[in-house]
Amino acid sequence: MIVVTGATGNVGRELVRILVEAGEQVTAVARRPAELPVGVRHVQADLADPQSLRPALHGAEALFLLVAGEDPQGILDVAAAAGVRRVVLLSSQGAGTRPEVYRHPAAFEDAVRRSGLEWTVLRSGGLNSNAFAWAGTIRAERTAAAPFGDVGLPTVDPADVAEVAAAVLRRDGHAGSTYELTGPAPVTPRERAEAIGHALGAPVRFVEQTPAEARAQMLEFMPEPVVEGTLAILGRPLPAEQRTSPDVERILGRAPRTFADWAARTAPAFR
Ligand SMILES: NC(=O)c1ccc[n+]([C@@H]2O[C@H](COP(=O)([O-])OP(=O)(O)OC[C@H]3O[C@@H](n4cnc5c(N)ncnc54)[C@H](OP(=O)(O)O)[C@@H]3O)[C@@H](O)[C@H]2O)c1
Repeated sequence: MIVVTGATGNVGRELVRILVEAGEQVTAVARRPAELPVGVRHVQADLADPQSLRPALHGAEALFLLVAGEDPQGILDVAAAAGVRRVVLLSSQGAGTRPEVYRHPAAFEDAVRRSGLEWTVLRSGGLNSNAFAWAGTIRAERTAAAPFGDVGLPTVDPADVAEVAAAVLRRDGHAGSTYELTGPAPVTPRERAEAIGHALGAPVRFVEQTPAEARAQMLEFMPEPVVEGTLAILGRPLPAEQRTSPDVERILGRAPRTFADWAARTAPAFR
């Protein structure tokens, strides 16, 4: 049995679907109740309270772990005691490129590597699904606002992250590896807005925010150091953050999906 934390999120929902289709027994973990595919066991638990995971982990062989809560060691202890042998951590590219800012994922990576379990770390670049933040203004007035409109980053499709996670959870040969997951090419915010407009069949106007406007908006839902780190990546990415990683293709045997592909599949959310 495989336990998927974050099972109702952009990545987790897709991962649960893939695992169920592959015939795996799946336990889905999230804090809130949710509709899940038939046959999936849903356990409400909070990663911030490792003991709450015990009923979910009982009898599990593998764990897909999200960075949440402050006690990765506690989570891994509960997992090991329950018999989990393999853990796949969804971390962030920033844990590698800016560990002083991305301390939270970096601490989870350290704990996983020291856990004694068979581990694999997936360092995801920015997710294409971050563009859902535009859904309200695109629906209402066909506009999308962001800073640094002409700086490209190779954001990744959450469905590709999920497919890689499923492969790594189910197949041997990935123990002790850290993979970086990106899309196939850098795409700028302006190009992302354009791609969504194309998918809708109606243009979306891109509005360039000043960094100060973007900072004020991000501070509403992110801690200050993460806001600064994110703005630095968006505005002045390091070469390592603009590079396209070969890892999705290496693991899946096909190129990562494009942003345009993601926009075409998710267009109803912007209508
Ligand atoms: N967005 C990016 O650009 C980016 C880049 C790199 C890495 N990542 C990582 O990827 C992860 C997944 O992204 P996503 O877009 O799939 O996330 P998401 O759509 O925001 O979903 C988060 C999921 O985690 C669950 N969850 C959140 N906190 C929890 C907790 N304390 N205990 C148990 N479950 C919890 C949520 O359900 P409940 O709310 O019901 O608990 C939900 O199922 C992120 O958490 C982040 O660490 C994201």
